[in-house]
Amino acid sequence: EETGKGGYDHYMLKEIESQPESLSNTIRGRIDPDEPAVHLEDFPRGCFEDVTEVHFVACGTSYHAALYGARLLEEANVSVRASRASEFSGRIPNPDGTLVVPVTQSGETADTLGALRAAREAGARTLAVTNVIGSTIAREADEVLYIRAGPEIGVAATKTFSSQVVTLVLLAERLREEVEGAIAREDRREFLEALSVLPDQIEEVIRTSRAEALSEKYDDRGAYFFIGHALQHPVALEGALKFKEITYEHAEGFASGELKHGPLALVTPGTPIFALFDGKHDEKTHTNAKEAQARGAEIVAVTSSERTASFADDVLAIPDTHPDLVGLLANVQLQFVSYYTARLLGRPIDKPRNLAKSVTVE
Ligand code: G6P
Repeated sequence: EETGKGGYDHYMLKEIESQPESLSNTIRGRIDPDEPAVHLEDFPRGCFEDVTEVHFVACGTSYHAALYGARLLEEANVSVRASRASEFSGRIPNPDGTLVVPVTQSGETADTLGALRAAREAGARTLAVTNVIGSTIAREADEVLYIRAGPEIGVAATKTFSSQVVTLVLLAERLREEVEGAIAREDRREFLEALSVLPDQIEEVIRTSRAEALSEKYDDRGAYFFIGHALQHPVALEGALKFKEITYEHAEGFASGELKHGPLALVTPGTPIFALFDGKHDEKTHTNAKEAQARGAEIVAVTSSERTASFADDVLAIPDTHPDLVGLLANVQLQFVSYYTARLLGRPIDKPRNLAKSVTVE
């Protein structure tokens, strides 16, 4: 086991730090900024022309990746929804035009498999996004798009979340090109260029992250909140899920604008709030974070902008990228925060109590 960790104390840290490589694999051969185009093996140009709506089904971390993909499609004017697989009703009003996309690292999650089977039963086209070749869901779906993250041993998903998000970003690009009525991306070339340098930027986050020092400062606060708007919302949810999974501390993720509609009652002096900014939709996060700060919360801004961060108590800096990709860099910072906090607390990071890597019962 020690050799598998390659000198790291935990698989989780190894997997966080292997993201420049795993993401390069996810992207390899799939984008051409010069054309500019996205090429997905097994999915020839035009193969999504009959799609009228997209329905993601997934659990846990994979559900957060699905929410990211759904938000991108929503902004491109594609009809889309994302369901927790365990809550999927099985109803698909327009099966001819609906593409059901189960998102699952393992390809074995029982809830997701159940949703896939219900979707097939209803007559929808199904396209699985997964990491594991030959998994049950890969075999049962009509089509498969692999995320190519390589094996992940830590129970808490890290590199596979990033690869799922990037794979869904690529799928969303193809869909917005081909689905009738969708809005094409005007800055396609710049966007694909930004995507191609993302692995290097993740390397930079790994090299420069101050998350370890911050974890020491914010140790023992009792509750931790994560907020974000638009594409940063699923990243906030994922940051909180990771945090609770491995630190056993209470953590919640909220849409920035929802903070004032209830959760604010939980804020006491010293409550840390990790606020995610993407440089495009910052107003809501800024206003709501300030509101919480006025009630004693300490704000950790995750941002590439010094100006945005100026009101915050602390900053986790990320490199500048396209607004639609910021969440991938912010998420790496949050992975480190969870990891270092759990380490400080002496938790069994790679195998948290009560959790399994893959849950094969409903
Ligand atoms: C379990 C794991 C989670 C994971 C979820 C979905 O609950 O502990 O980390 O996100 O299953 O797994 P999947 O393999 O379908 O992505």
